[in-house]
Amino acid sequence: MICLGIETSCDDTGLALVEDGRVIAAVLASQADVHALFGGVVPELASREHLRFIGPLFDALMERASMGPERIDLIAVTRGPGLGGSLLVGSAFAKTLALSLRKPLLGVNHLHAHLLACGLVEELVFPGLGLVVSGGHTELYRLDAPDRILRLGRTLDDAAGEVFDKVGNFCGLSYPAGKQIDELANRGNPHAFELPLPYLKNENLDFSFSGLKTAAINLASGLDFGDGGLESFCASLNRAIAETLAIKARRALELADGISAFYLAGGVAANSMIRARLQKLMAGRGGRLIAAPPRLCMDNGVMTAYTGWLLGSNGWRHELDLEIVQRGRRMPDDMKQTDFKKDTGRKVNG
Ligand code: KG4
Ligand code: ZN
Repeated sequence: MICLGIETSCDDTGLALVEDGRVIAAVLASQADVHALFGGVVPELASREHLRFIGPLFDALMERASMGPERIDLIAVTRGPGLGGSLLVGSAFAKTLALSLRKPLLGVNHLHAHLLACGLVEELVFPGLGLVVSGGHTELYRLDAPDRILRLGRTLDDAAGEVFDKVGNFCGLSYPAGKQIDELANRGNPHAFELPLPYLKNENLDFSFSGLKTAAINLASGLDFGDGGLESFCASLNRAIAETLAIKARRALELADGISAFYLAGGVAANSMIRARLQKLMAGRGGRLIAAPPRLCMDNGVMTAYTGWLLGSNGWRHELDLEIVQRGRRMPDDMKQTDFKKDTGRKVNG
């Protein structure tokens, strides 16, 4: 089965083709430089840029794969959560292709796709727990199968990536600041500055990062960043975020018995201190951290195509009335399972 994946949930336009679990071709257009001028993603601009890029990217993908669109068996598209206008561009494009090529459609949960993309580099282990950390999300999950993923906790306000981006911006770093803070942090002292570990005095698996964001900006406004001060400030901020994530991850592991695999994905999962901290947590429990490789951490079409293939080869489909789901809205449980052998003429996944 050849699955086309279309990702337009935020500010990256990504398209990819996955055949039987392997990537055939992928294309990606990042809008980071456009939004950098404003210090964050401007939704209206993001939709316009997706609209400008998506057609030419589809042509480029076909050329790269040396195939015609009629060979596509399934069209998978990110249906949310994300920015409404951005999601609409991808889903309208996907529906048009599905109609004109007479191929089935599947809406993919962007956060599940972040986690499942780990399967492109390591065998997926179930049951597992997973953490998606990005510019817009910080969510903990239990994974029992590709089509049985349950959210255990989420951020009540800002995502971890928002803290990196906004605090970095305040310190004069360009958007998105996460990668730069990561690099600066590697040369600093993580214990140099005291920052609060937020929202831990409770029993739940939710996060709240807005207080840390404010505390870090307040601290930074009184600092003179000469002589390695910025490096140590970044290291201290990074440590506060990594520790907070690890403490809630450990709590989730303690609540769920017999879990040996922990997935880490999303843009912020590229962070070296967070990876090392969760690696240590899992090693201490005799388990395994399965982290998405840095190239798959940022938004991309490969994870959508791969998730589409995983679910689609088990018969999951959506109708053409598939709705997009904006960030913060409930994801409807509206996938339908069909006799997939009829669609593709062969059984692909188990
Ligand atoms: O998943 P993603 O591409 O888009 C969203 O869905 O948000 O994540 C982008 C986020 C940005 O906040 C960026 O600063 C952060 O990922 N990021 C990092 C690193 N690389 C990217 N944060 C910390 N350390 C990094 N190495
Ligand atoms: Zn994302």
